[in-house]
Amino acid sequence: MKEKKTIITYGTYDMLHEGHMRLLERAKALGDYLIVGVTDENYDRSRGKLNVVESTKKRVKAIEALPFVDKVIVETSKSQKAEDMVKYDVDIFAIGDDWVGAFDYLNEYTHVEYLARTEGISSTKLRAENFDMIKLGMVGLGLGRDTQAFLDEAKFVSNLKINRIFSRDFLALKQFTKKSDTIKYGHDNYDEFLDTSIVAVYIDTALEDHYMFIKKALEAGKHVLCENPLALHKNELKELLGLAKKEKVLLLSALKTAFLPAFNQLLKELDDGVIGEVKEVRATRTSLYKEKDYPESFMAQGATNILSSYPSLLVNKILGKSKNITFFDQGDEGYDVSNLIISKHKGGKVGVSHVATGMKSEGDAVISGTDGYVYIPSPWWLTKKFYVRFEDEHKSQIFNYEFDGCGLRYMIAEFSSLIQRGKRKSKMLTPSDMVGINRVLLEYNERKEKEFKSKKED
Ligand code: CTP
Repeated sequence: MKEKKTIITYGTYDMLHEGHMRLLERAKALGDYLIVGVTDENYDRSRGKLNVVESTKKRVKAIEALPFVDKVIVETSKSQKAEDMVKYDVDIFAIGDDWVGAFDYLNEYTHVEYLARTEGISSTKLRAENFDMIKLGMVGLGLGRDTQAFLDEAKFVSNLKINRIFSRDFLALKQFTKKSDTIKYGHDNYDEFLDTSIVAVYIDTALEDHYMFIKKALEAGKHVLCENPLALHKNELKELLGLAKKEKVLLLSALKTAFLPAFNQLLKELDDGVIGEVKEVRATRTSLYKEKDYPESFMAQGATNILSSYPSLLVNKILGKSKNITFFDQGDEGYDVSNLIISKHKGGKVGVSHVATGMKSEGDAVISGTDGYVYIPSPWWLTKKFYVRFEDEHKSQIFNYEFDGCGLRYMIAEFSSLIQRGKRKSKMLTPSDMVGINRVLLEYNERKEKEFKSKKED
């Protein structure tokens, strides 16, 4: 006979409430030693819990403080539960009866017990009661397709209401609002649109219009989420970030990769030294827009302006700001259709970003370190899975964070959660990350302009 009976349970425990406490108390009463697995934020988000407001650290601290809890662990993947049963020699796995049947497979390792859930309270309910509804307006109607994708993904984010859109294209606007089940109000006057009760905007217009639309929205005191790049000319982004600070609003770049659970887990693993010291980051992103019915005017913005923010995100997040940059561009159409961008970083580390709209290549990424490397298969910017590989192939690991949809919901959830919590910066994409990423295309545009001027003078 074992001396002490070990009980284990798992949960998110966001905004710790009476329902959580009662369940934990009853779980402890089933034995002598209670282990609580608190779900990690990246794992939570990958399994669809997008709207959690407290960090893993904060939630762990709150559970640790409870007198009936003996040990707290962090749950990072679905397969962990079975491993924990063996590791901690668990006698009973207890969980609320909202999960009836879901964990029967664990009966193979331990005894599974479903406990009655407390009626009338949940974290979801508390979040809805404690946070205001955010009214967001859409700016731009692009090809319509992208607008709809954003709206579809936003449905997974709680406390967010989108029912207004601005576009200069009056006809397209009329057609869109007629068909849309969510957007009821179309505006072709930006000032009037900003004058409504919306508190935030999502901007997806032609790249050269971003700066002006962002500036006006910030001046009107609206939080801004804008597609990349936020600005095409020197000092514009710094000016916009300064303006956001002055107006006490949030300005966030819509680089969806930065908010994906797998991408954030990757950064965490690298930080923990999973491949030793990182020496080189290489990422490719190409897209043949001409095959997707995009107009010539779109491609004329150049591959670097359209696509470089993505590889620059990976390079900058891992290696920090670039110290000097070399461009190897191609394009006879008057704009670049391909650009191989090599950047040098602190400690001589090297970033290699490859973007193209006029040729197709493998969209993968490799991060090389002194002990091993990480491989992210194509499309790496929709990061779901990454491989950690070593000289000794037996040591290799796979990290898998599948997600539903096109990945936009994670970004929208972060944007809306920051507003709700009164935060003006995202840890996943800080203002200095945004400046570093933007610097690559600014330098390229500046050099092109100089080249153009000197050719003209010749
Ligand atoms: N729980 C409970 N009674 C409640 C709410 C939760 O017994 N009213 C239990 C759950 O069954 C689970 C544990 O508390 O065993 C952690 O649940 P969690 O999902 O973190 O809490 P919820 O409030 O259900 O969270 P959400 O609304 O985000 O789903």
